[in-house]
Amino acid sequence: MNNILVTGGCGFIGSNFIRYLLSSSDSIGFTGKIVNIDRLTYAGNPENLNGIEKNFSGRYCFVKADICDPQIVNKIFKKYKIDTVCHFAAESHVDRSIVKPDAFVKTNIIGTFNLLEAARLYRDSQVLFHHVSTDEVYGSLGTDGYFTENSPYRPSSPYSASKAGSDHLVGAYSKTYGIPVTISNCSNNYGPYQFPEKLIPLMILNALEGKPLPVYGDGKNVRDWLYVKDHCKAVWEIMKRGKRGQTYNVGGRCEMQNIDVVKTICDLLDTMVPMPGSLPRKNLISFVKDRPGHDQRYAVDFSKIEKDLGWTPDESFETGIKKTIKWYIDNKGWTDRVKSGEYMSWIDKQYNL
Ligand code: NAD
Ligand code: TYD
Repeated sequence: MNNILVTGGCGFIGSNFIRYLLSSSDSIGFTGKIVNIDRLTYAGNPENLNGIEKNFSGRYCFVKADICDPQIVNKIFKKYKIDTVCHFAAESHVDRSIVKPDAFVKTNIIGTFNLLEAARLYRDSQVLFHHVSTDEVYGSLGTDGYFTENSPYRPSSPYSASKAGSDHLVGAYSKTYGIPVTISNCSNNYGPYQFPEKLIPLMILNALEGKPLPVYGDGKNVRDWLYVKDHCKAVWEIMKRGKRGQTYNVGGRCEMQNIDVVKTICDLLDTMVPMPGSLPRKNLISFVKDRPGHDQRYAVDFSKIEKDLGWTPDESFETGIKKTIKWYIDNKGWTDRVKSGEYMSWIDKQYNL
């Protein structure tokens, strides 16, 4: 892994991954170079990687490019002698996929196809290809049970269906052309640099501003939360030591109902930054119309990566959420700039905030 192509490296998880790889180089044994390609959609923010180019000069470079453009993708493989791909780039927000699914089909399916084609045509199909995917491809669980690597694919949203399509393409390229691939299907992430359209950062920022906290339906849907750095560590372990052609589930063993996540954020913020008059932020919770096709529960059985690669999460929700809230408080410049973008006013309009 000398020349790694990271796609979507200016997004939430991609930027955390690049930081992790470069800043932990010595301890994790990574001595190579990273080329980050990102189209810089509303979710891509070069500021997420401030300082990286300067601090790791010669080992990191950024190319603004669309993975849907096969000519550019092929050129990048040749120019940078890519031997490894870590593929994060995607349209990633379920609500947006319900309103505007076309970009999801394009980037998540066609974009992944272009990368696989470049990997096939370059280096005799021997480019290591890690595909970052989601547990949402498995659909919804009832009150019990867990997603395993053998769970059937039953995606509910255009987002998860497009990710499922990309997973199948990656699997097919492995079987048909012998490309050494690995796939990770991970549960919900949270942590620094997450775009505030997703539950946790949206609630933190709205609660800080005393704005309503829109909880869908009855708030009893369950997600399995994982701190983003733990996800990055899992991806790296799989790339390094995962069996080629295999899928690994990644999760936090941390199931929580949405309403409990929101209440925890409110309570922590009340202590860290009390509201005027010490009013409790829980008063801001507002139950709103449910998301169509809303999956009830996700919970991941990650015993395979635990047993085979020795990975487990380092952070509990208690430690991870405190770090995350503190990061959003300490990085007001970042949040102000992100919130001033056009997309945030679109979100506000959706919920009449
Ligand atoms: P994100 O939306 O924060 O970032 C996506 C990045 O991809 C952005 O920088 C964006 O500019 C870039 N991008 C989008 N379309 C592109 C295109 N056509 N060409 C090049 N770049 C493009 O997403 P994220 O939350 O960081 O998720 C990263 C990956 O991890 C996705 O594949 C997602 O499906 C997967 N995943 C996310 C979660 C989660 O909780 N966020 C959980 C499991 C898996
Ligand atoms: P989200 O962060 O969008 O991730 P995903 O849909 O991929 O799981 O949402 C997490 C959960 O929170 C999901 O059950 C939907 C719910 N949710 C709300 O209740 N209110 C919100 O404003 C958002 C964005 C999500």
